[in-house]
Amino acid sequence: MRRKWPKPNDVEESFLVATYRSGRWGRFDGGGMVEKFEKDFAEYHQAKYGVAVFNATIGLMLAYMSLDLSFGDYFVVPSYTFIATATAGVVIGLKPVFVDIDFDTLTIDTNNLAEILERDKENKIKLVVPVHFAGNPSEMDLVIKISRDHNAYVVEDAAQAQGSEYRGRKVGAIGDMGVFSFQSSKLMTAGEGGIIVTNNENYYEKLWSIHHAGRSMDGRWYEHVRIGLNARMLEFQAAILLPQLWSLDQTLLKIRRNASIIYEELSNEESLYIHKIPRHVKTNHYFIPISIEEKFYGKLTKEKIVEKMREKGFSIVEGYKMPLYKQQAFYEERWGLPIDEYKNTYNPNAEKACRLTMWIPHYELLEDEEYVIKYVRTLKEVVKDLLR
Ligand SMILES: Cc1ncc(COP(=O)(O)O)c(C=O)c1O
Repeated sequence: MRRKWPKPNDVEESFLVATYRSGRWGRFDGGGMVEKFEKDFAEYHQAKYGVAVFNATIGLMLAYMSLDLSFGDYFVVPSYTFIATATAGVVIGLKPVFVDIDFDTLTIDTNNLAEILERDKENKIKLVVPVHFAGNPSEMDLVIKISRDHNAYVVEDAAQAQGSEYRGRKVGAIGDMGVFSFQSSKLMTAGEGGIIVTNNENYYEKLWSIHHAGRSMDGRWYEHVRIGLNARMLEFQAAILLPQLWSLDQTLLKIRRNASIIYEELSNEESLYIHKIPRHVKTNHYFIPISIEEKFYGKLTKEKIVEKMREKGFSIVEGYKMPLYKQQAFYEERWGLPIDEYKNTYNPNAEKACRLTMWIPHYELLEDEEYVIKYVRTLKEVVKDLLR
């Protein structure tokens, strides 16, 4: 099958070549692409500040490091997410507590979040990380209210949510800060890349410092005021990302138009469950999640559907196959994690999504209307054939 994403284009290529020829390849070589990208990306997402980094895993780690947290503190993450949401905290001594998702939106279940924080009588939980899964914004008003009542910070894992909106506001800087990814499959990509956005100057200065070996903005080259890393984005990454940012609205327009064809075509499919997009949010449709209706499970499995679609030249993604608390990584003794708690954790909705939910990738929506209609009708055919 031909490689569908990323799609090279002349504008990005010319930016990339110009950056290469300039010899200014790192942000402190006197380039300017990274700084420009930080400014424009933050502004687009209605945030005052941005710190660009080389991927979002490190971006999440920096975000957690910039908060006033101590070794051994707990933080809440959904069990239905990419593992980095949790591991970025583990490597700096934090302990994840896994919260369930709402099956309709596949984002954090705020009732379960409230229960978890209510149970935490000793206030060990200091941070909550809602994930805007598939670009669908989490229920931020409630997440923030519940978290603040418990004196917990809120970091948005917006890795998948470039351009998504919650109640008319772009996601990312609704909580204390948010982290976006530009890894290969994302809607904006440089192969790898990430950015942290925030409206808080204090966090910004800390993030900038940590991503730059712990230097301070007004300090000297060999003065380090805190423990930091080198997490700086390359000029090449920013050179490719800038034109993508400038055309993001156009990209979203196309994706959203084509997504409505998919939703319309699938609306009467008895064997498939179409997840809800609340009226007060706007997703970027990084993925369109669709699930097999429980009673058709067996004849229909995501593996079978994915394979049949692939045979016909179309992509659909199997998605996460186990909730995070079942991942062997969290059972490694060295991290001092609450392994017994993980053994006893059971998030029914995350389990259900792992069994039944597939994802239509955004790049299948970047084609013309005719293609999208062919895509969705093929999907319906595949399902029908499997049910025979
Ligand atoms: C929800 C989520 N969080 C974090 C990440 C980590 O991003 P990166 O691959 O840029 O490190 C990803 C994706 O890759 C993701 O989907």
